[in-house]
Amino acid sequence: MQVSELSQKQVTEALKAALGVLAEISNAGELRAQKGNVIGENSALSKLNALIKSLPNDQKAEAGKLIGAAKAELQAAWDAKESELAKAERAEQLESERVDLTAAPRYLRRGARHPLSLLMDQISDVFVGMGWEIADGPELENEWFNFDALNFHPDHPARAMQDTFFVSPVENHLLLRTHTSPVQVRSLLERELPVYILCPGRVFRTDELDATHTPVFHQVEGLAIDKGLTMADLRGTLEHFARVMFGPDAKIRLRPSYFPFTEPSAELDVWHPGAKGGARWVEWGGCGMVNPNVLLAAGIDPELYSGFAFGMGIERTLMFRNGVTDMHDMVEADVRFSTQFGSVI
Ligand code: PHE
Repeated sequence: MQVSELSQKQVTEALKAALGVLAEISNAGELRAQKGNVIGENSALSKLNALIKSLPNDQKAEAGKLIGAAKAELQAAWDAKESELAKAERAEQLESERVDLTAAPRYLRRGARHPLSLLMDQISDVFVGMGWEIADGPELENEWFNFDALNFHPDHPARAMQDTFFVSPVENHLLLRTHTSPVQVRSLLERELPVYILCPGRVFRTDELDATHTPVFHQVEGLAIDKGLTMADLRGTLEHFARVMFGPDAKIRLRPSYFPFTEPSAELDVWHPGAKGGARWVEWGGCGMVNPNVLLAAGIDPELYSGFAFGMGIERTLMFRNGVTDMHDMVEADVRFSTQFGSVI
């Protein structure tokens, strides 16, 4: 017995329709989404297949063959489509993940602490090693601590607008500290005697940035107040400091000078054996015996206590110690400059 013509046509059409849908599919996602409709439970051929059982027994075999052949043809077309799309998808993925093995590599630069920070730490270590303490104070300072308590006369030229960044409104008497010396007075007010402190810190003056000046720079301040301290203690301390910084052959020289907050006062020179261009004397900082007026401002009896103070610029120290010739290198924070001094983190 033959399957009816209508059934044959139905099978052919169902196959044609399914192949048509399949032909339209252009990516793997769509293919997955259409699986049920084209070859699965819901497909037209599956539905025709389900009708077989209700055909007269003698037609079942023929109908089964016919639908089976159509399903096989469709399955083959499906499989071909599937592998074609998978291939295209893989090719697209490879293309999008393409790596240019000839491209120049971009290295991550290792960071480095700024040489000014390293130097301040190194100086701090020298004094902590002698039992001194590290002190600090505010960068936005009261005029009284920066000048008055340090025995600056109200008309002292250093107070003038040309040197000092005053912070408006001027009536508040706030300024950016011009030196670390205000920390002397703060430390004496805050601490129990005797006092041995070192204060590295940032200071400000109205200078233009050039090869040897910068409006923001750093100083290190030292202050020792105890019973019976003399200029010999100042000399010995600075000599030790100089030797640690500039080698065992370094020595110091004091030249008479003037600071309102020390009496007597001196300019400190260091004999720098390793100086660029040969050993020589270099101006390093200021120092002196603390003026009794400063002790009085901090409520200390100058008859009982005495002491010494010193201060020097960190940038300047780095310049002549390490042969840095341009201040710009120190303010620009270029890691290529910093790494020359090591990559200590
Ligand atoms: N504060 C002084 C300056 O900035 C340096 C100094 C400190 C001098 C301590 C004497 C004692 O020039």
